[in-house]
Amino acid sequence: MFFKRKHRLVILISGRGSNMKAIIEAVRDGRIPNTRVVGVISDNPQAEGLTIAKKYGIRAKYISAAPYKTKLEGKAEERYIATIKRWKPDLIILAGFMRVIKPRFIQSFPNRIINIHPSLLPAYPGLHTHERVLAAGEKESGCTVHFVNETVDGGKRIIQARVPVLSDDTPQSLAARILEKEHKILPYAIHLLLEKKISYDTITEPLQWREEWNF
Ligand code: GRF
Repeated sequence: MFFKRKHRLVILISGRGSNMKAIIEAVRDGRIPNTRVVGVISDNPQAEGLTIAKKYGIRAKYISAAPYKTKLEGKAEERYIATIKRWKPDLIILAGFMRVIKPRFIQSFPNRIINIHPSLLPAYPGLHTHERVLAAGEKESGCTVHFVNETVDGGKRIIQARVPVLSDDTPQSLAARILEKEHKILPYAIHLLLEKKISYDTITEPLQWREEWNF
């Protein structure tokens, strides 16, 4: 009997872990078939997502990224690379991992790192996206899944979902409307990549999420 090797996912988080949970659920219910989340790493020992992952029986580890606060570099970067290499992932997903990733990490896993960002990239990369979107009076915002390269939030875009910005929106209400879409497009992008329906080389323009895809 021939058993197909399961795809292997590693997820990096810093906090709540709701995108991580959406991925785990999609693996469990078969929307992302033949796949295993082989490990979750957080740079924050208090991350709620670590507790959630453990509840699902997934290996979940805090790895300090000190002394840096906003980037992954030096010895910490080495620790991350070594652990992730042992876990042999097909894809590494940054799901609310709040650190800038540097060239050595990126080059250790070429075209295998993706990130979810809560704006319609290339607009509003970086932090405080919702505040900036509201201050600019935008009528639309959304989220983007993209490959990670050496420019923050600047890698090749894979898929986007759009939402309206309402006149009475606060950063919180807009974030919540976008988060719902993040929970759909991130698992969907993972599915497409693992099943080789798309790849780094074939993507030109990002896909635009459609609710009727019902993923
Ligand atoms: C999400 O909004 C994601 O787009 C951003 O950080 C947030 C993480 O949320 N990069 P969660 O930890 O997945 O709940």
